[in-house]
Order: sequence, then C-alpha cells, then structure tokens
Amino acid sequence: MARDYATNGRGGVILAQNHYNGKNRAIRQLVHTYFFSPLSHIPNASLLAPISRLLWEFPTEYQGHLTLELPKLHKRLGPLVRIGPNEVSFYSLDIYKRVHAPASKFVKDPRVYSQFVQDGHPALFSITDPKEHAQRRRHMGVLFNRSKVPLLTQMMVDEISRFNILLEKLSQGPFDLVTTCRALEADIVSRFAFGSSIGSIDSLMGGKELQIIKENDLKSSKMSLHTNLPTIMRMYGRICEVTSRVTGWGGPSTSSKEFEDWAMEQLKLATDSEKAPEASFLKVLAGERISPESALSEGKEMLGPGTDTTSATLAHILWALSLNQSLQNDLVSDLKAANWTTDMTELESIPRLTACVKEGIRWTGAASAMLPRIVPTGGSLLAGKHIPGGTMISSSPIWYLHDETAFPEPYYYRPDRWLEKESEDSTVLRNDYYIPFSKGPSTCIGNQ
Ligand code: HEM
Repeated sequence: MARDYATNGRGGVILAQNHYNGKNRAIRQLVHTYFFSPLSHIPNASLLAPISRLLWEFPTEYQGHLTLELPKLHKRLGPLVRIGPNEVSFYSLDIYKRVHAPASKFVKDPRVYSQFVQDGHPALFSITDPKEHAQRRRHMGVLFNRSKVPLLTQMMVDEISRFNILLEKLSQGPFDLVTTCRALEADIVSRFAFGSSIGSIDSLMGGKELQIIKENDLKSSKMSLHTNLPTIMRMYGRICEVTSRVTGWGGPSTSSKEFEDWAMEQLKLATDSEKAPEASFLKVLAGERISPESALSEGKEMLGPGTDTTSATLAHILWALSLNQSLQNDLVSDLKAANWTTDMTELESIPRLTACVKEGIRWTGAASAMLPRIVPTGGSLLAGKHIPGGTMISSSPIWYLHDETAFPEPYYYRPDRWLEKESEDSTVLRNDYYIPFSKGPSTCIGNQ
C-alpha cells in the first residue's frame, strides 16, 4: 500500500489512503458485528442479519409474511433471534409480559412509530414518550369508556343496515368480503372519530373502493423501507415534493387531498357549536383537552388501527360461519331468543356469540405486526441473555394467539374451544395466551 501512494501525486496519496481507511473500517465493523457485538451471542435469523435487517428480510416483509416466517425460526433457534445489527425478535410469553407490563420501561421505538405521525402532531398510537402517552390516554379514555357504548349503538345499527343493503346488492355474484367489511368499519370508525361518515359504503355501492383506503394499504407495505432507511426515504419524499411543485406531477394524490379537506371540514364543524354533530370524538377532544390539530391527528390516525383490525376479523368470522350451516343456525336461534337485542351487555351474555367473536379475533390475528420496543438504559436479562440498552426488541401478539400448546389446532376456527369444560390448567394457559389487544400501557384502547 505504501508503495502505491509513493508513486502517485499528492491527491493520489489521499485518495488511496481514504480508500484504505474505508476498507479497513468496513472490515473492522464486520468483525465487530459478527464476533464482538453484545448481540453476537444471539442466533442469527440469516447470515446477513448482523449487517442489515433489510438485506435478508425485505421481500418477506414487503409481502407481509415476516410475522409468519419468524415463529418457524424461533422453533429452531430458541426464544431470541437476532434480526438486525441492533434488533432482536423474541417469542416468549414471559418476556412479552415483562416488556408490556404496566409502567414498563421498554418504550415504543420512535423510528417505527414516528412513521404514523400525521401533520407533525403525534397521536396516541405514535406518541413514544411514556409521560406524554399516559396523559393522552387519560384524555382519550373519556371517549373509549365502556359506558359510552349505548350512545354509539344507534349509529352502528344504522351503518350495519346500510351494509346489509350493500351485501344484498353484491351477493348477486362473487364479491370481496374483506373490502366490503372494510367499508362498513371505515364508515363506523369515521363517524365515531369525525362525527360524519367517510363514505366507503356509498363508494362501494357505486362500484369502487374508496381510493384513500387503498392508498393507506400501499403506504404500510413500504413501512420497512421507511424505518430501515429513514434518511434516504426522507430525501426521496423531499425530492417528490419539489418535483411535484415544479412540474405538477406526483405529490399527494387527489384522493388524499380530498381526504385532508374533508377532515379539516369536520374539524371546523366540530368546533362550531351550532353545526357540530351530536356525538363526535373531535367535538369532545378539540380545544378542551388537546389542541384542535392534535385532535384531528387522533381522528386520522385512528382510522388505520380501528378499521383494518375490525374489518379483517368480521370478514373472517362471516366467512367461517358461511361454511358451517349448523353453527349459523344455532347462533340465529340464540339471537332470536334474545329478541335480536342490540344492547351490548345482553349480547355479551350469549355464550355462543361471545365464543364466535373471541375465536374470530384469535383465529384472524388481525394485529399481526411486530410491536417494537427499546431496551432501557443499563440493558436487560432476557431468556438468560444480557441485551444491551438501546436494542430494539419485538414480538407479535399473533404468535401467542396461534400457539399450539395453548390453542390445539390453532389454524382452525373452533368457537367450541371457549365453551368446552377443560382442565383448570388448560383454561389458565388459554386465557394467558389470549393477547390480541397486546398488554400494558399501550394495550388497544378500542378494547376498553
Ligand atoms: C379486532 C380489533 C382490534 C385489534 C385486534 C386491535 C389490536 C391492537 C393492538 C395489538 C394494539 C397495540 C399496538 C402497539 O403496541 O403498537 C392496539 C393499539 C391501538 N388500537 Fe387497537 N385493535 C382493534 C380495534 C381497535 C379499534 C376499533 C380502535 C379505535 C376505534 C383501535 C384503536 C387503537 C389505538 C388508538 C391504539 C394505540 C393505543 C396506545 O398506544 O395507547 N383499535 N390495537
């Protein structure tokens, strides 16, 4: 090497030296990540995992299969698997309970949750600071309180009646049940959040899915690029923004602009005492408890977790019931006997109905994402191994819902499993593993 730059001019010496230093640094980093990193004692998901998460998992995550593939690796490699240079996946209910315990010091990973922030105003789902999160949860708790359900019942009954008309129209031929259920849930959640429906059922009545909902799906499929390459994706966003301003091409789509205008209009209505809808999340929160802008972000952010989860679950349950005529008949008899009540407490007292819903939530596993948390300063001993502070660790609630020890034949829809008399141990195990809404400070607020 010394001979190389002795024969070059001064500029050549610096270039060669830089090249040498760069190569040296890369080799040092590789040796460190594979042999000396505090995570080098954890089994790797792939040979490339210690270098970059994207390198080995992007195609799988892009297709939404990562959460299905990882349990297979855990079965082979144990409760901890290294999935990136500084990232570990865990599959252990004990660890899950510690990480998601009340007042847990394992906070949400800001790199991931910041991707959900709307217009620079973090909402409950995307707030990562524990104190701020706890305060926002107290404010929101007023609206998600179980005692508020009777106020929402008529609104839900109205939307379900419109959904039934849509089903009648569509059932003349084959139709997509997931899209149809999503229209119902998007209209219910938007009426709850904004006081007015986003118009998904109307749009499907006219023969097409609401564009903004389709676009949200596309956005989530790119999530791993945003979290793993934040700088590049930010630069890409800026370039698209400038290009769209200069040329008029690209930039926010018409439907996303229309949605923004619609949401802003709902905020104006909610804060106008004369025109405000009777019941709306925006009306209760905006101005009094949190700023109007933050209330608007809460409404927009809620549409995602509120719509996709409930609609996927409903579609799965309807599909399973359509394949089991005798279960359908029994359920109809139970509901007839209860005079087709719409009262939540009365509905919950019908054991078969509760079992069908509970099993549907378990079987669907609609919240399939890995929930990333950061190990607190000082590190933590997990499954007998020291994991340094700052490491991102994650696990998915669906692994526990589909665990074959707690739920034999986990991929079968079997509402009976919730009705059968089982041994005390099996019942405790089953209830322990039933965590569709996660646990701890960030457990689903929609489940209250
Ligand atoms: C079957 C239905 C549902 C399932 C399985 C489900 C599941 C979950 C899970 C696992 C989380 C934790 C996410 C995390 O830690 O990152 C969560 C959080 C959340 N969910 Fe749900 N959810 C459902 C329905 C709903 C509904 C109907 C709403 C609203 C109308 C909603 C609003 C939220 C919000 C705002 C959070 C964030 C809570 C926080 O960070 O404190 N969810 N949900």
